[in-house]
Amino acid sequence: MRRKTRSCCFPSCRLPAGRRGPAVLLALALLALSGCGGGKDDSLRIGAALYTQDDTFISAMAQDLEGLVREAESGTGEKITLFIADGKSSQNTQMDQVDRFLARGCDVLCVNLVDRTAAAVIADKAEAEGVPLVFFNRQPVAEDIQRWDQIYYVGADARESGELQGRLVLDAWRADRESLDRSGDGILQYVMLEGEPGHQDSLLRTEYSIKAVVDGGVEVEKLANETANWNRAQAAARTAQWLEEFGDGIEVIFSNNDDMALGAIDALASTPRERWPLIVGVDATAPALEAVAAGQLYGTVHNDGRGQAQAMLDLTLALWNGEDPGQAVDLAEGHYVWLPYRQVTLENLDEFLEK
Ligand code: BGC
Repeated sequence: MRRKTRSCCFPSCRLPAGRRGPAVLLALALLALSGCGGGKDDSLRIGAALYTQDDTFISAMAQDLEGLVREAESGTGEKITLFIADGKSSQNTQMDQVDRFLARGCDVLCVNLVDRTAAAVIADKAEAEGVPLVFFNRQPVAEDIQRWDQIYYVGADARESGELQGRLVLDAWRADRESLDRSGDGILQYVMLEGEPGHQDSLLRTEYSIKAVVDGGVEVEKLANETANWNRAQAAARTAQWLEEFGDGIEVIFSNNDDMALGAIDALASTPRERWPLIVGVDATAPALEAVAAGQLYGTVHNDGRGQAQAMLDLTLALWNGEDPGQAVDLAEGHYVWLPYRQVTLENLDEFLEK
């Protein structure tokens, strides 16, 4: 891999002097002394900020990124340093971490926002230092992504995951309506476990899962919905309450992610019962795949965390090498990389267990 010098090809060089941050000015001064080829250090430094490491999906994704970085290092012979910071669900903490990454001279930042509305501040900090920025998993609004041409978003289309989850339920209804419609009233009674309020995946999965069922011609009745913040223990507590309140009246438990679906399973498993509602999740995490194999989770929707980590790394390497990022990843509207979702049930489980 032939590296063009960062300083010659990164857009920071094209910024008007008034908009250049101190680090950029210093880099330019060094370049003036050493010529365009003289970078401070020829290793790539990536700063990855996680909203919290306590999230099953995010921590698996961070591990994937670490593994892929090691593979890229041995494949290319390039030295790559990956810094990972745990935001512990505090946007203030994450802001400090971003400042530290920039102060340490990170070449690219990958940010999983705590609060999606904080994107503009981080974008402006990165732009001021001429450091490209890849947001992931927690999607900023389009205006924030478009603030600068070196801002990207890597993720998966939340609406698609909702639709695929809804279709899992629709297919189950069509295949064996009698066992799903326990009350026999022709209406599907459900509860909804929602992720964090304001997260695009909570909002759109909640909406589009139900829309897919209704569009498929099935009448639905919502018994209850509540946030469990992506969290297994919180979901177990909500489900336990609903089981007391509605008992066998719950025919389906929709869950915005697998960890909360597993919480629902914990609640159901804690008291012996003859029949369980149908439960569906999103992510295809390792414990969720086990629950599918055990017949406790009817199905889930694979959220390709490894694919997203790979896309972040490909994008980062292209930017670092001064290459066109559109050649390295499938770039939509110049800023977005979308990874597809896939349904998982007992039928195709093996394909996912192998991964
Ligand atoms: C995943 C959740 C995760 C959340 C974190 C979602 O895409 O499905 O499991 O908790 O991202 O932001």
